[in-house]
Amino acid sequence: MLGNFSYKNATKLYFGDDSLKFLNDELPKYGKNVQLIYGGGSIKKNGIYDEVVKILEANGKNIVEDPGVMPNPTVEKLYEGIRIARENNVDLLLAVGGGSCCDYAKAVSVSVNCDEDPWDKYYLRFEEPTCEIIPVGCILTMAGTGSEMNAGSVITNHEQKLKIGHVFGEEIMPKFSILNPKFTMSLPKRQMVAGIYDIFNHICEQYFSGEDDNTSDYLAEALMKSVIHSSLIAVEDPNDYEARSNIMWSATWALNTLISRGKSTDWMVHMLGQAAGAYTDATHGMTLSAVSLPYYRYIMPYGLAKFVRFAENVWDVCPDGKTDEQIAQEGLKALEDWMRKIGVSMNLTELGATEDMIDGITEATFILEGGYKVLTKDEVREILKQCL
Ligand code: NZQ
Ligand code: ZN
Repeated sequence: MLGNFSYKNATKLYFGDDSLKFLNDELPKYGKNVQLIYGGGSIKKNGIYDEVVKILEANGKNIVEDPGVMPNPTVEKLYEGIRIARENNVDLLLAVGGGSCCDYAKAVSVSVNCDEDPWDKYYLRFEEPTCEIIPVGCILTMAGTGSEMNAGSVITNHEQKLKIGHVFGEEIMPKFSILNPKFTMSLPKRQMVAGIYDIFNHICEQYFSGEDDNTSDYLAEALMKSVIHSSLIAVEDPNDYEARSNIMWSATWALNTLISRGKSTDWMVHMLGQAAGAYTDATHGMTLSAVSLPYYRYIMPYGLAKFVRFAENVWDVCPDGKTDEQIAQEGLKALEDWMRKIGVSMNLTELGATEDMIDGITEATFILEGGYKVLTKDEVREILKQCL
């Protein structure tokens, strides 16, 4: 039975190869001071920075520079962003980049007017903001996280060896996001496929929970098929606009709260991947691909019916003459073959993890209860060992 829920998504999207012009429609809604948030410089190389600055200037905005947001943004960078926003009385946080810039903008947004330490308040105690937030807008340059249309924000604390995501309430979602698939074309192939796997796994995390007949699962299957189809085209020809635009749109729908309605959701691949990420600082999507197969093979017997459905509906496995276990295994083999074809990391060793980290990563793994098996710490350790 579909559970009870509310649904609202407050982010306005502008999609397409001319979508940046709609920044002109959004900017007049906000005050003069715009904190321009970006990463390590890709937007300067591909010209997006110049285009955005031109529009900000034409709208009479005062640009407050906030560069250097690193992949997996750190708590130290968050403190810097809060200081910049406070010193410049910022009215809008404009993130131009991938999920890291969008996530970071949301973390700054909830912290600028808050006296408490944001790491303790939001990432250790998971509290909701009690202060006035600064609005966030995104111009997305990498498809993957869904951060452009959700309220998630992941921050890494290297000192504490923790990478933690907080999913805030809907008021923290970006007010608007501009999605131009052409902006993703300059991504290195490794980042593109890491993003593709991140999208696919977001769908899996929501799909592999519950045993009911749920509309969300049909939506999830359609999204998975679209991602598989478009990814195979994009790895052959990264400049294929149709494939890249389908990937970008799927990313948004994979994690904008729609397909989790009425579902308990799993998220254990992300918990394992994030804990590994805290130790290795590896690319998010690659940490997920590295832990997925040992995890799914382990939980498969506990959610057998769904893994059979996954095999048949997503991977077109023919069930004739096979046991449920055989069908489910074939589905996971098809997933593995696709992962190898697009070229994602298949183990944690290649991401820099070593045997002596396993106890620490186990400790840093949050155990969630929405999937088919609530893992014990010993099971987490065993799965992680298989991921090396
Ligand atoms: O920093 P620059 O120079 O811009 O380079 C970035 C970065 O090195 C580069 N890049 C992005 N767009 C580019 C480009 N290079 C060339 N051309 C372009 N058009 O790509 C690298 C990775 O960028 P990043 O933003 O870190 O990637 P992603 O979008 O995967 O974001 C990862 C972060 O999002 C969090 C992850 O944990 C990680 O911290 N997540 C956020 C979620 C959410 N808000 O709901 C959910 C996800 O599961 C995830 O946990
Ligand atoms: Zn993810």
